[in-house]
Amino acid sequence: MAQELLNPTRIPKHIAVIMDGNGRWAKKQGLMRVRGHEKGAKAVRQTVETCAELGVEHLTLYAFSTENWKRPKLEIDTLMRLLVSSLKKELPTLQKNNISLKAVGVLELLPKTAQRELAEVIEATKHNNRMNLTLALSYGSREELITVIKNVANQVKEGTLEIEQIDTEVINQHLYTSYMPDVDLLIRTSGEQRISNFLLWQIAYAELYFTEVLWPDFRKEHLVEAIHNYQDRERRFGKTSEQL
Ligand code: FPP
Repeated sequence: MAQELLNPTRIPKHIAVIMDGNGRWAKKQGLMRVRGHEKGAKAVRQTVETCAELGVEHLTLYAFSTENWKRPKLEIDTLMRLLVSSLKKELPTLQKNNISLKAVGVLELLPKTAQRELAEVIEATKHNNRMNLTLALSYGSREELITVIKNVANQVKEGTLEIEQIDTEVINQHLYTSYMPDVDLLIRTSGEQRISNFLLWQIAYAELYFTEVLWPDFRKEHLVEAIHNYQDRERRFGKTSEQL
């Protein structure tokens, strides 16, 4: 699918990606799972650069879930090492492309080295304004919503918020993702068709796109295909076709 076939006026503002299939990719090649993650980390760059090029304003990647902490230690260590090395390596690319890095999740659970590297890259890129690249790390949507509920409840308890004032906007403001709009297009690779506790609130009206391609094989052409598919759909947000 050629990039020129896309309608430049209907590029999704916010794309979120569940990068799945690294383990299966490795198994297919007779390699250890961690090799799949290494290859998966390399695949991130093309998606980031293509999104920036197309004018996507927010790209959110599910890099490590709260449930991923249950994986074998060797795999967790590898993923954390990959995160640190990718951050170091990709900082010049982020600067060159005017991309601001952000992170959402329970970041305090990450190893200190990863927290430090992340904080440095976030700080170094905070004035970039072409695209926000958000890594969901140690992230789970239910955990995020529980945190929101506790914070909102505290405000009510302290008397700074009335129960009647709680609406969509109040919830949005308390989410880790408060700086971004709702997801327009959610992509999941590897053929699995589930959400796996990712941005449950934020995908309320997202278009969902599932592809059989395993994440390490995901390239620009696959992303363009996903956006093309999105552009072919009619987003009604609960209205009828005639009302749009
Ligand atoms: C899912 O594949 C992928 C992950 C749990 C981690 C995603 C991480 C990366 C792509 C690399 C690091 C990312 C950055 C941003 C540097 P899986 O292991 O669940 O695959 P499987 O379902 O085939 O076993």
